[in-house]
Amino acid sequence: MNILVIGGGGREHAVIKALKKSPKTGKIYCLPGNGGIAADAECYPIKATDIEGIVQFATTHDVDFAVVTPDDPLVLGAVDALEEKGIPCFGPNKRAAIIEGSKVFSKQLMKKYGIPTAGSVTCASAENAVEYLKTCKYPTVIKADGLALGKGAVIVYSFEEARAAINEIMVDKIFGDSGNKVLIEEFLTGPEASVLSFTDGNIVVPMASSMDHKRALDGDRGLNTGGMGTVAPNPYYTPEIAERCMKEIFIPTIRAMNAEGRMFKGCLYFGLMLTSDGPKVIEYNCRFGDPETQVVLPLLDSDLLEIMLATSRGELREDMVKFSSDSACCVIVASSGYPKKYATGFEIELPKPAEGEDIYVAGAKLSDGKLLTSGGRVLGATARAENLRDAVDKAYALANKVKFEGAYMRKDIGARALLALGDK
Ligand code: AMP
Ligand code: GLY
Repeated sequence: MNILVIGGGGREHAVIKALKKSPKTGKIYCLPGNGGIAADAECYPIKATDIEGIVQFATTHDVDFAVVTPDDPLVLGAVDALEEKGIPCFGPNKRAAIIEGSKVFSKQLMKKYGIPTAGSVTCASAENAVEYLKTCKYPTVIKADGLALGKGAVIVYSFEEARAAINEIMVDKIFGDSGNKVLIEEFLTGPEASVLSFTDGNIVVPMASSMDHKRALDGDRGLNTGGMGTVAPNPYYTPEIAERCMKEIFIPTIRAMNAEGRMFKGCLYFGLMLTSDGPKVIEYNCRFGDPETQVVLPLLDSDLLEIMLATSRGELREDMVKFSSDSACCVIVASSGYPKKYATGFEIELPKPAEGEDIYVAGAKLSDGKLLTSGGRVLGATARAENLRDAVDKAYALANKVKFEGAYMRKDIGARALLALGDK
């Protein structure tokens, strides 16, 4: 079976490596892929947002199944366009992808169906937002309604900061039309957990939980990034909390989407905050997380292609999804300066991963047979081991063998999780 994967980051590399383990997998095409993915799939320079180009490629190549992973093509309707041409897909259609595409939509959904989340108000003009912000409690959280490369949420500590954020989002439109509306949300506290799940619209099967590290610097300082590393499972996400989430959040969400005529099929990502009042939804994503996927899929002991096919056909069963009890850690190696300005074009020296280790390439291109840096997050070094301590140590040993000019990484990925486990 030939598979088309849309996207070109570390997450897609992890999806492709997992798909390759299936005996059913034939050729894998990736649009646009990257210089590292090229070792595992045939890459073609068609952008993930070029829906026409993707459909044109899929219908002129021997594609049996497509996997659409990034948010923007999903929200733009890539799955609808491919399925219209008879190509089955893993991923939600446009009507369902709105659960990530509009934070105002997802907040209304949660309110309507009693799914626990932070209290909020929606503002459709800068004037309204500023009026409300004069009266609200700080810190508070301002979120652009639409997609914003993961940077659309700002925590503000005073009215002045809030007004500046509203100006940027709603007046200067730094996220374009995504900032036409904003949510102003109650500030919650507690450990965060990411839970990716497979759902075919009938049942929801959670994957191993994980913990992202979004800030650029050690100790959760510095700017927000796309994610500097992950561990799985997340020690704060205990079996008791998992049971509560299933009952109070996961099943109600699937039912709510069905009731709205927006059946969700694919990977539904629950961004959770484990507050003293119980687990609450911080955000939904309509796709695999990056870099969560780079620690979750290495722990999957079942056949990913079988799961994806069953999900797309509405035939998913719980017993198809088996996760190992091992732990995994992914350390992102980034270009110096990221998430601000950084230089690219440096040659990358890659170590050979041992059993239970892998390198997932995100920001690199091939040039004359050499692998050169081309992005902020260059790659992720992942290791799987029986316990988190060994997984963290191995992931760092692997990441430290990656060489390119200006390479930097956080030194404390997994530290908080280890602390929670009582291991300093
Ligand atoms: P989001 O883009 O919605 O995932 O938000 C990005 C990050 O902002 C989250 O991972 C949280 O760390 C933080 N955040 C978002 N919403 C809230 C909230 N209501 N209270 C506290 N922190 C939040
Ligand atoms: N790691 C968070 C995300 O993929 O949105």
